[in-house]
Amino acid sequence: MTEVIHLQKLVKDYGPLRAVDGIDLSVQKGEVFAFLGPNGAGKTTTVEILEGLRPRTSGTVRVLGLDPWTENKKLIHRLGVIPQDFKFFEKIHPREAITFYAGLFGKKVDADSILKQVQLEDKATDWYEKLSGGQKQKMGLALALVNEPELLFLDEPTTGLDPQARRSIWEVIRSLKSEGRSVFLTTHYLEEAQLLADRVCIINHGKIAALGTPEDIIQEHGKGEVLSLQAAPRLAEYLRTKVDLPVRSENHTVDVELSTNADILRVLNLVEQSGIPWTGVSTRRDTLEDVFIRLVGKTTESGDLGGAGSGGLK
Ligand SMILES: Nc1ncnc2c1ncn2[C@@H]1O[C@H](COP(=O)(O)OP(=O)(O)O)[C@@H](O)[C@H]1O
Ligand SMILES: [Mg+2]
Repeated sequence: MTEVIHLQKLVKDYGPLRAVDGIDLSVQKGEVFAFLGPNGAGKTTTVEILEGLRPRTSGTVRVLGLDPWTENKKLIHRLGVIPQDFKFFEKIHPREAITFYAGLFGKKVDADSILKQVQLEDKATDWYEKLSGGQKQKMGLALALVNEPELLFLDEPTTGLDPQARRSIWEVIRSLKSEGRSVFLTTHYLEEAQLLADRVCIINHGKIAALGTPEDIIQEHGKGEVLSLQAAPRLAEYLRTKVDLPVRSENHTVDVELSTNADILRVLNLVEQSGIPWTGVSTRRDTLEDVFIRLVGKTTESGDLGGAGSGGLK
């Protein structure tokens, strides 16, 4: 495996504020790596240090084997970058924008094939200002592709987009991965990370709270299976006197946390014995979002999540 990103004890101070507080991680070639955390966690700061846009306070940083601050010139042609809140000139259309942008790097590119790759070929000659939010993000992706980058940095590429536009961006990210490119993605959508990422790093207040595959993180920090019944709260009261498993009741739903598979039958037998009526039963496991909320809390810092559809932090 080749390491495309290596961070050791990364620290970044803005005056008295420690925005990044000792981050260690590595990303392998071909991975989609999701960097998750609430607003203010230090995601953009870390990404900008990796892109060579910001100096670090201390620690080791290697991107494609280079120091992005001192060796930026060697690195810049090998990266694809879309900053958070990417914007472009209003009076330009996607095909021109790609040709123009490639020109800045002294490159000639096939703009139409890049547009096709980001599924924007039918908007090749529409004004940028007329594009939807999702199409603007795709144009950002198209620009990031002019260098045929080995590694892409996408900082919240789907924030504020409707669910359909988000899905469409996910498809493009998957296609980038299938070409062997590595993607460092920051997001605050847990569902997005769980669906797209090979590995996930959750940061909070500049520190790593969890790191691994979504499955590993759920295993390590999540609770096991939960048996969920639609029934009155008195069923919860009854079960609490009969089993030593955690039982919760909310909105006519009674949840029992199971330790082993055998608990399912045991609990259902007790429910039957109780004579208390119930309407629905199901089992479910923690999602990455459940784990995130447990680790990071229902954060008030993530105040700008409104309107973006499902999967955000509530
Ligand atoms: N240029 C800056 N000067 C001072 N403080 C900053 C600057 N950029 C970010 N911060 C602060 O650093 C912390 C991390 O911010 P940021 O990296 O943007 O987080 P995220 O991208 O996870 O929302 C926040 O408290 C933010 O206010
Ligand atoms: Mg940010």
